[in-house]
Amino acid sequence: MQITLKNPLDMHLHLREGEMLRSVLGFSANSFIGGVVMPNLSTPIIDAKLALSYRSEISSLRDDFEAISTLYITPKLNKTELQEAKNLNINILKLYPKGATTNSQNGISSILDSNTMEIFALAQDMDFLLSIHAESAGFSMEREYEFLSIIKQIAHTFPKLKIIIEHLSDCRSIEVLEKYDNVFATLTLHHITLTLDDLLGGGLNPHLFCKPILKTPKDRDALLSLALMAHPKVSFGSDSAPHLLSRKLISPASAGIFSAPNLLEQLVELFESHNALENLQAFISDNAIKNYNLNPRVRKTITLTRKERIIPSYIPVGSDSIVPLNAGSTLKWSIQDISRES
Ligand code: DOR
Ligand code: ZN
Repeated sequence: MQITLKNPLDMHLHLREGEMLRSVLGFSANSFIGGVVMPNLSTPIIDAKLALSYRSEISSLRDDFEAISTLYITPKLNKTELQEAKNLNINILKLYPKGATTNSQNGISSILDSNTMEIFALAQDMDFLLSIHAESAGFSMEREYEFLSIIKQIAHTFPKLKIIIEHLSDCRSIEVLEKYDNVFATLTLHHITLTLDDLLGGGLNPHLFCKPILKTPKDRDALLSLALMAHPKVSFGSDSAPHLLSRKLISPASAGIFSAPNLLEQLVELFESHNALENLQAFISDNAIKNYNLNPRVRKTITLTRKERIIPSYIPVGSDSIVPLNAGSTLKWSIQDISRES
């Protein structure tokens, strides 16, 4: 039995830079035609020039993977810079609440103040998408829920601004998707398959520590349902976020799950086990193309076949390594063929 997927897209991923980028890019580029590449590098992508050089760094390594750029919102972002970005076909702004996650110290501390609202107004006028790491600074399990009032306020004030709640993790966010025409979301593989118990219910597993944190079975199941029905406002975004093993084994451990290896294989298995394979194409590509108004430069058809393979226990990076999601477990499906249309 074979499954074909056309033009898979990963609408949220971290590729990092330098040696890490060179070590991880292949995993995404072998399965996807492109993806939304997050700007939280150690030198964050806060202007159009940095975004351009990062995009060039990625495409010089793999020209068959389209890096969809994002621009990191700082309080200094202004109209001139936004226009520069537009001229370079950069259409997504990323909002990090200051201190919420990896390299977010240049983010925004008062999201509804007049300066930030002015940035959102420009974003709306200039037709940017607004991608949001939607977490408050409160109790870990309540952070996304507490942030929803800010999402509602932005969505209401700027009804023509498309807002993407990234890596949806809490079932209470779903009603916001349903209520506001301009609110969309991405879903990760980990938030639709795992819960807090996988992180710490037995022994502590630092490789499953991420932000937003994994939540309850109820949250996971509600989000999985959205994915399986390919809810029209939702697309796949892995939030694959590699950290070196040495950074996972210290305290505090770095937040991020490295899921890039074998995403398609695992999604096929998941959708098949729920009799929802007919919706995978929409979840993995069609919804994103529509909602983000994309015209992909690269086109690929990926054929998967039922053949078992083991996920490696680690990926070497220099003298260190990264541990992938579900390391050591057996995949039921393998990629058999990737054909690229020119
Ligand atoms: O777990 C996470 N890791 N969540 C984020 O929001 C950022 C990411 C990272 O960059 O490591
Ligand atoms: Zn992320």
